[in-house]
Amino acid sequence: MKILVIGSGGREHALIWKIRQSPLAQKIYCAPGNGGISAIAECVAIAADNVPALLEFARREKIGLTVVGPEVALVAGIVDAFVAAGLKIFGPSQAAARLEGSKIFAKEFMRDNHIPTALFRTFNEPTAARQFLERCDYPIVVKADGLAAGKGVVICADKKAAEQAIDDMMGKKIFNEAGQRVVIEQCLQGEEVSLLAICDGSAALLLDSAQDHKRIFDDDLGPNTGGMGAYSPAPMASGRMIKEIEARVIEPTLRGMRQRGLTFRGILYAGIMITVDGPMVLEYNVRFGDPETQAVLPRMKSDLVDLMLAACEGRLAGKKIEWDPRASVCVVMSAAGYPGKYPTGMTITGLDAAQENPHTVVFHAGTKMADGHIVASGGRVLGVTGLGQGLEAAMDQAYRSVEKIKFEHCFFRRDIGAKAVGRL
Ligand code: AMP
Ligand code: GLY
Repeated sequence: MKILVIGSGGREHALIWKIRQSPLAQKIYCAPGNGGISAIAECVAIAADNVPALLEFARREKIGLTVVGPEVALVAGIVDAFVAAGLKIFGPSQAAARLEGSKIFAKEFMRDNHIPTALFRTFNEPTAARQFLERCDYPIVVKADGLAAGKGVVICADKKAAEQAIDDMMGKKIFNEAGQRVVIEQCLQGEEVSLLAICDGSAALLLDSAQDHKRIFDDDLGPNTGGMGAYSPAPMASGRMIKEIEARVIEPTLRGMRQRGLTFRGILYAGIMITVDGPMVLEYNVRFGDPETQAVLPRMKSDLVDLMLAACEGRLAGKKIEWDPRASVCVVMSAAGYPGKYPTGMTITGLDAAQENPHTVVFHAGTKMADGHIVASGGRVLGVTGLGQGLEAAMDQAYRSVEKIKFEHCFFRRDIGAKAVGRL
């Protein structure tokens, strides 16, 4: 069948790399794609959130399965539009995507369904929010309700920082509508783990765990980014812990959605903090994680297309996912300055040399083809995933390939995976 993947990052490159291995995939399109994706799929110049144009394209090309990468398209209702047109699409409906699209919806949903999460209050206007700050213990976390491209969460060490966050979101409206309402919640301590499940509305199949590295600098210092690297599996999430998260988070989430008349199909991504009181949900996402997907999919042995089709058709129960027992480490290579301002247009060399290593895969994120060369075109430029017997071996493979790739103003963390192998 023909498959359309929507998006343009390392996550979408990893999805297409994996989809290509399926005997069910005859032709793969990507909208809009990137420089690396254009080598393995046909890229079409339609933006990821242009739902009418994507629908028109899928109809015309008789696409058998559409896979949505970024949340914007899901929150904009792409799944509803495709389903109404009789097209198969992997992802949640607009109403179900509110688990990611509105933090207030997600927090109230968790409270109503007894899903463990930080204590919270919600505010519709700044005066009450500021008054509440007088009575808080610090640190505290201030979150914009809506989508804010990963920048809507501020961990505030003291009252002054919290007042600033409220003023930025509700006064200055730096996130526009998304910050009109806010959540203020208890700050949790612990190790973070990303758990993703493929869901068909009633059954959920867990992917192996991963840990993201959100801060820009080594030792988890500096501002938050979209993710500077990931590894899988996450050793801090033991088999027992995973079972507990499945029973206390994933299953009650699907049940709670059904009770609200919503069918959750697609990827349910639970960002979990493993605290002394057990696992707590930091956030839900309703899509594959980036860079987690670049670490997890190279370890998946099963046919992803078959699993996504089963999810769309409500026949996931009884399916299993086979995993490569090796560990993986994905190192993100970025343009210096990211997550702030960064340069673009730098020529990237050494990609062929890096790809000669059979224990690594190079995924493109912010790249494009220009005059026959691959050049940097985004903040996160590449994701280099290494596989090995154990995390330490996977790290060595990933960094060996990273060292072969060169571009001006290149920046990457040198400690992806280090915490888990006790190197820090
Ligand atoms: P989000 O944008 O909701 O993914 O949150 C971004 C990051 O903020 C998370 O990955 C955590 O590192 C951090 N975070 C969010 N909520 C909390 C919390 N209640 N306590 C501590 N850290 C948090
Ligand atoms: N890596 C975090 C995310 O995909 O939201």
